[in-house]
Amino acid sequence: MTTDPLDRVRAEARKAMAQAYAPYSGFKVGAALLCADHTVVAGCNVESASYPVGICAERSALGAAITRGMREFRAIVIMTDAVEPTAPCGMCRQALAEFAPDLAVISRTSGGREMQWSLAELLPRPFTPSSLPSGAGLNSA
Ligand code: THU
Repeated sequence: MTTDPLDRVRAEARKAMAQAYAPYSGFKVGAALLCADHTVVAGCNVESASYPVGICAERSALGAAITRGMREFRAIVIMTDAVEPTAPCGMCRQALAEFAPDLAVISRTSGGREMQWSLAELLPRPFTPSSLPSGAGLNSA
């Protein structure tokens, strides 16, 4: 029997979802990034009484991974309790595209429904470091 290497990432996303702080929306989200060195780093959504201050699970995972020195990512698994898999919001798509324009984006529900896209498909014309006159970004930071 072969095991899917993404199962580990799915499991971490599910655990992160359980930690979500979402008392306002009631919509708990977990996300787990598969890094190039096979490390898995997870995050959850963290809401705030000052609503716009809240952060999505995907950017929470990205921040945690960057903090651990990761800069290259292969896939992200997003986990929710929704009926259908949900695609990441626009802000998260942009944040992920900074590091991994071709990231595999897998969205799964706790009921076991799953969809997969490439980030390039979800965000066809990202604003990238090379969009800036300075070209600063990944290799300079
Ligand atoms: N949320 C995420 O964490 N990821 C998404 O891709 C979409 C939305 C969060 C933000 C907020 O805490 C809650 O879900 C409802 O929008």
